[in-house]
Amino acid sequence: MATKATSRTATRKSAKAAPNGSQPWLHQRGKQVQEFGTVRQFPVGLSYDARMYSCQRLNQILADSQILYGLYKKHHWLMRGVTFYQLHLLLDKHAGEQLEIIDAVAERVQTLGGVAVGDPRHVAEITVVPRPPDGVEEVPAMLSRLLEAHETILVAAHDAANRAGELGDDGTNDLLVSEVIRTGELQAWFLAEHLVDTPLVRS
Ligand SMILES: [Fe+2]
Repeated sequence: MATKATSRTATRKSAKAAPNGSQPWLHQRGKQVQEFGTVRQFPVGLSYDARMYSCQRLNQILADSQILYGLYKKHHWLMRGVTFYQLHLLLDKHAGEQLEIIDAVAERVQTLGGVAVGDPRHVAEITVVPRPPDGVEEVPAMLSRLLEAHETILVAAHDAANRAGELGDDGTNDLLVSEVIRTGELQAWFLAEHLVDTPLVRS
């Protein structure tokens, strides 16, 4: 009797874990199958060195762009003053555009066989964009901070685009020039014009 009862319990337990093969196997853990900073061999007509170099540069730009996105959302939320509504909307628009760039850059890293930086704690370790105070800065200081983050990314993107082009990685060059640089420059222009101290009614 005792044996039968034990056997029934065991059956119920295993049925609970995977009834008819339709129960997902939950709480799984495993070893890393590719380490950060490595690239797999992909047949895309680029050398290992070119793909390794591009992934490294793209991951730095990816980390800094994720921080820029976070800064845009922070300042979108914390905005204040008579131009609150305009800036609240503008910063959110820029954040959305940065999010699209982030996805494109991350997928470029994957296309080259690399590993895109994704976890925000990993991003924080890699970024060179200074951390803002947890509280609220004055509005011009918030805008200046965004401009400086843009310039950091733009300087890196110009250099990385040139070097990637020299190594034959035209796709990375194109992504950096046509998305990271062009969008970044445009966003920087829109921000910078808000820092011009100009009379609004009488000159
Ligand atoms: Fe919002």
